[in-house]
Amino acid sequence: MAGIDYSSLIPNNVSLHENRRLQRALEDWQPKFLEWWQDMGPLGFQAKETYLRTAVSVDAKGWAQFDYVRMPEYRWGIFLAEPEPGRQINFGDHKGQPAWQEVPGEYRGTLRRLIVTQGDTEPASVEQQRHLGRTCPSLYDLRNIFQVNVEEGRHLWAMVYLLDAHFGRDGREESEALLQRRSGDADKPRILGAFNEKTPDWLSFFMFCFFTDRDGKYQLASLAESGFDPLSRTCRFMLTEEAHHMFVGEAGIMRIVQRACELMREHKTDDLRKHGGIDLPTIQRYLNFHCSVSLDLFGSEISTNAANFYTLGLKGRFEETKKTDDHLLKQATYSVAELDGERIVTREEPALVSLNERLRDDYVADCARGLARWNEVIRKHGIDFELTLPHRAFHRAIGSFGEVRVSPDGRIIGQAEWDARHRDWLPTEDDKEYIQSLMRPVVEPGRFASWIAPPARGVNGLPVDFEYVRLA
Ligand SMILES: [Fe+2]
Ligand SMILES: [Fe+2]
Repeated sequence: MAGIDYSSLIPNNVSLHENRRLQRALEDWQPKFLEWWQDMGPLGFQAKETYLRTAVSVDAKGWAQFDYVRMPEYRWGIFLAEPEPGRQINFGDHKGQPAWQEVPGEYRGTLRRLIVTQGDTEPASVEQQRHLGRTCPSLYDLRNIFQVNVEEGRHLWAMVYLLDAHFGRDGREESEALLQRRSGDADKPRILGAFNEKTPDWLSFFMFCFFTDRDGKYQLASLAESGFDPLSRTCRFMLTEEAHHMFVGEAGIMRIVQRACELMREHKTDDLRKHGGIDLPTIQRYLNFHCSVSLDLFGSEISTNAANFYTLGLKGRFEETKKTDDHLLKQATYSVAELDGERIVTREEPALVSLNERLRDDYVADCARGLARWNEVIRKHGIDFELTLPHRAFHRAIGSFGEVRVSPDGRIIGQAEWDARHRDWLPTEDDKEYIQSLMRPVVEPGRFASWIAPPARGVNGLPVDFEYVRLA
């Protein structure tokens, strides 16, 4: 079961050949996916051989094989984590019942919406990043962004499999629509706000992988708890791929921070723009932006939808089964930060409607661990500067803080102060222009752009100067 059948047109570990109807539906979708990939996938590199990993097994040890592949020939397929024998629904009103192998009829619409919303983010990020190959800071980074892109493509396959296998004709229509929406398009935008933002440069890309892919991790982890077993198994395998995307983000920012510190010491100045580096205050402004738009992805602080998803057994909490409470939460409360006139206060709210906020808390704690590692690099260089997460109310568009102006340190402020100071807090036109000016391709093996340090090690035990993408 762990092994993947690569002999069929669509690689899979779900015995696709035994379900002819589903096989035909997916084989019908496959050329449309490839057409989308050619139109909206990485621009200018489709014919280049890239050193990529492909799943060969879904068990814990060694699931990947590395080799040169042209991206359109990547073996996208359907990989579910191993079934857990006797798995039950672990929370909500159906707690203790056997996990569903088919969609319960009354939850069809809700579940479909959850899957479509997740599925929509996957092609969106590929679209947002499609121009970046042309300005890569190194071949190593070029390979990494392509790895992320093909895996986001595979995540789309994962969600389309669920739609086609379990939602009949509606599911097939949704699968088509996932290929028709476009990030940032005025008429057919992607569903969630952050996935319609531009990813115009590599600093934004690394921030996106750190902050926005991490939202993905927390959403997938909650869906991995689902009582709908195929969704749970799909998300469990997706999480192993997501981990790599967050590594790319965290390590990328760390290397930019390291380079900034080296330049500061070498030239004894904070003004790195003369020396082709990205100064720490600019990094902080990009961080503030990407963190705040990613916080919005968790939704409103108080949400009856979130309560319903939980009570119905469709979407759990992060690490649901590790928690020791009753997994019903009907009596429980949770502290939620809220707006009270001109102040931000913390109140106890019913736990069920606070589930978005609870997931946001798990997420913020995870982000903070990454920042601590970046700050460790700064500290080791003896530099007196600390990167910080903006307050959760800063620059929010969704939820109760969407209606007020808040400083990164969590003070509610008036429009006048916002107008006077937002340039210190969010990327300015100047910042964007400067970062754009740094975006020149570096493609000689082992060489890196002026603004980023080389990684400590290469991919899959290979040297840093390996030819990760064959451009010749
Ligand atoms: Fe993804
Ligand atoms: Fe991802």
